[in-house]
Parts: sequence; structure tokens; C-alpha cells
Amino acid sequence: MKRISTLLSIVVFVCGFSYSGYAQTDNSTDNLPSDNLTPAFHAERRQALRALMPPHSVVVIFSYPEEVFSRDVDYTYHPNPDLYYFSGYKEPNSVLFIFKDVQPDGDSSYNELFFVQHRDPSAEQWTGKRLGVEGVKASLGFKRVYNGEDLQNFPIDLKKYTVIYDYLPDTLGDLSAGSLKSLVSQVIKNAGLVKTDEALNALLYRIYMRANKDNLPRFITIIKSHLNSEAFKKNFWIKALLANPDSTTLADFKKNYSVIVAGPIAFNNYTGEMRGIKTPEEIHLIKKSVEISSIAHTQAMKAVNPAMSERELEGIMLYVHKKYGAEDEGYAPIVGAGADGCILHYEDNSALTVKNQLVLMDVGAMYHGYSADVTRTFPANGKFSEEQKAIYQIVYDAQEEAFKYCREGVSFDSLEAKTTQVLAAGLLRLGLINNAKDVKKYYPHGMTHHLGLDVHDKGSYDKLKENMVITVEPGIYIPAGSPVDKKWWNIGVRIEDDVLIGKDGYTLLSADAPRKWQDIEKTIAEESIFDKGNFPALK
Ligand code: GLY
Ligand code: MN
Ligand code: MN
Repeated sequence: MKRISTLLSIVVFVCGFSYSGYAQTDNSTDNLPSDNLTPAFHAERRQALRALMPPHSVVVIFSYPEEVFSRDVDYTYHPNPDLYYFSGYKEPNSVLFIFKDVQPDGDSSYNELFFVQHRDPSAEQWTGKRLGVEGVKASLGFKRVYNGEDLQNFPIDLKKYTVIYDYLPDTLGDLSAGSLKSLVSQVIKNAGLVKTDEALNALLYRIYMRANKDNLPRFITIIKSHLNSEAFKKNFWIKALLANPDSTTLADFKKNYSVIVAGPIAFNNYTGEMRGIKTPEEIHLIKKSVEISSIAHTQAMKAVNPAMSERELEGIMLYVHKKYGAEDEGYAPIVGAGADGCILHYEDNSALTVKNQLVLMDVGAMYHGYSADVTRTFPANGKFSEEQKAIYQIVYDAQEEAFKYCREGVSFDSLEAKTTQVLAAGLLRLGLINNAKDVKKYYPHGMTHHLGLDVHDKGSYDKLKENMVITVEPGIYIPAGSPVDKKWWNIGVRIEDDVLIGKDGYTLLSADAPRKWQDIEKTIAEESIFDKGNFPALK
């Protein structure tokens, strides 16, 4: 048995932790993954954020709340990706302050403050080790770290700063000192923040960014369609705009709006700009989660047979992810056969047999917080029918067309347009639509999004830039009842790959998962370790 780490020994000693099963735990750091993001990475990200922030500002980032799964059992905790990105901290009940400027403090100074979850031996016996103040200092490299309980009397006046914060988390229940709810309410009070409505913010932001005196009538119409929202009704500037929709009121609105919601808008602009361009450390982790996912897709193809259930295929994917150390899934796995494959975000995965149908599997692992997003579609019986193959080939060709434009400088809009053209031409050729405009009937989603700590990651959608990581995911879905020959019904095909954008081209990160229909058929024909699984029938 290995010795426990020094930090843990100190903690155990300080806490008087006597239960031997814990004191002698074998979780020494050399039995844990060693390719975590480093404190230096997170510190550099905070420094890069400071470079974007306006003078006299502070960025405030709260942890995500814990969510109840079943009475006193919570969902597996998922850290706020922004908090993780800027700190490496993965626990709830915390708030991080990142100041633009160095703040003098007597003989000393600081430019960040971190209030974290306190140590609690009895809670830790149930839910695991907490870093606590000393652990955050030692392992994440912060200097000014406090227990959440200390925020209340901390000598700071946030009203002196431009406070840049995300939409405030919904916090149920616990107002005890140090809880997320109490941290949020203290910051709201101290900084004089207004807890605003998310939809309101998003819409106001669109108006703020895009409205001008020529297109204002269009925005006024949009605002009017949202007037049942209490937040809208009460908003002074919306009232003023509706009462007097002219360019003077608009200019006034813009001037004042930037003050009202500077928090979330500014926060998401800065963090989006940063997180949309991946650093080498992040690319390393994304490559790993995509590689794991590609192996899992390949293994699922080898294992599939028409008698399998959707859940069984999902289970094979999850087994492979865990085997390679993925801590979680990037999103709820989508495993849909036939009609289920035509439901874009199908998550039931409940069909007992996939039969002789196409199976669409949109499943991606998460490794150290970074998500893959890979979809493969394949025939459960190992052979594409003529109709399945025809649809599959159109989607494949659309992807190939998209790849040609995956390089710095190309606009996201043109990438989408090029792909859509190929899908439309294919559907026209097969007589499934008569007008290219109808392509959206069978291709109702977008072709790409950023990928990273969030599966739909933050990032700008203007032009592709070097070191963006995006998905390329065209699809065609023909649900039963569509106005085409029945032979096309219940064919749903999406092919989704993860792409690293370069200056002059791209790297296909998910190339290991078979993509050509010929390679897929060959892979399905291969033996699988799961062929030999001789599990007993349930009684
Ligand atoms: N897996 C979700 C998506 O493809 O966007
Ligand atoms: Mn996707
Ligand atoms: Mn996907």
C-alpha cells in the first residue's frame, strides 16, 4: 500500500480524522491521472482575461449549484466550466474574484480573491475530499483564499468596480453561511447587482449589438412578441423604446443598457473570445477525449447486431470511455435506431432491439472536463440498403465539402451555406425535394458549433480562426409520414466529426472512427469481444 500524500496526511491529522478506512486510503497522487491542466495554465488564463477587462473592473465567477437527483441524493456534480477554466477548482459553494488591477491592501496587495468550500471531515466521509483553503493554495496556486463564510465580513466594496459576472445561478434552499445561495446574495447586495432575466438579456444584447435606425422596426416587432415576460414589461428602456421607437431613444437605450447588463454580456464576450481559441494544453485534452470516443464508436460498430438494444450499445460506448479514463459523458448519449434516429436529441435509448435498421449514435466522452462530440450512423445488420446508402453518401459528401473550407479566415456562414448546398443538391437528385429551399425540412439543425469544456462551447461565430475546435455535422432525417415514398421513411443519418482549425487547413481529430460506408461495413463484420459475452438471462 502506498503512503498517502503529504497534503492529505496533514489534513487527516488536523481534522483528527480517525476512521482508518479513510486515513489509510490509497489515493496517492501517483494513482491519479497526471495530465491535468496545471496551476500555471489557469493563472495564465486569468492574466489573459485581465488584458481584456476594462479599467477598474472585477470579474466574479460563481460555482454551479448542486442539483437534486432524488431526495438526499444529488446528480454527479459538474463544475462551472468558466470557474474550472480560470482556477482548476471543481467544487461547489465558491466564488472567484479576478481584478483587473492590483488592489493595495496595507503593506501587501492582491489581484484575485477566492472564497471556497470549507473542509468538513464528516461531509468528506460521505462525499469525498475537499481541497479547502490550504489545498487550494497548495495545489491550485492561489494566494488569497478564504472560506466562503468569510465573504460576509470581508472588507471590500464592489460598487467601486465595474462588476463583470455571468447570469447568476439559480440557487434553491440553503442560505447558511458559505452556501452558494448566500455567496450570490452577498455579492448582489455588495455590488448592487440586478438579477435579470436570461431571455431578456439575450434579446436586449441582440438589440444592443445590431439595432440601428434602419432595422429598428424589426427589433421593435421582436420585442413586442416577448411582451408577456414580466421582466420585459418592467424594463424601463424597453418601455421607452416602444413608446418612442426612434433613433434618439435607441442611442439612449444603448448608452444605458451597457450599464444595466454589462455583467453577463461583457462576461460572455470576454470568456467566449478566450475559450473559443484553444491553447495547446486544451487541444491535448480534446484530442484525448475525441480519440477515446472514436475507439468507442469503432467498438460499438464491431459489436452491433440487430438483436441488441439501444441501451446495450450505449453501455458499450460508456464501458470503452471509462476504460480509457474518461470521467463522464460530454452530453446525454444519443443512440437511436430507425425512427429514433430521426429525433435529433433522442435520449431515451429505450428500444429493446435495433432490428435491421440504421443506428445513429451521437456519443462523446468527457476527459478532464473537455468533451468530444462524435456521431456515426450504421446499419445494425452490417449492410446499408440502397436507400440508406444513398442518403448516407449525400451526408458524407456534404461533410467532405465542409472540410474543404475548414481553415482560418472562412466565415461560419459560408461553411454552413456550402454544406447545405450539397445536401440540397443530393435531395433534389433523389427527388425527395423539388426546391432547394426545402432542404431544411430534412436538415433542421446547424452544421457546426465550438467544442471544448461545453459540448456547445463558447466562441465567436464570425470567422474560423487557428486553434478553434469545431464540429462538422451535417445530417438528413426523414421521419415516417414525410411526403416521400415510404421506402425513405425512418432513415436518419448524421455524421459528426471534430475538427481542429489551422491557418491553412484542418486536422480531423475523429478520423479513427470509420466514416466511409465501405469502412463501416468492414468494421461491423469484424469480431468483437462483446460477441463472446455469455450473460445469463434474467429469471
Ligand atoms: N451532441 C450534440 C450535438 O451534436 O450538438
Ligand atoms: Mn454537435
Ligand atoms: Mn453530437
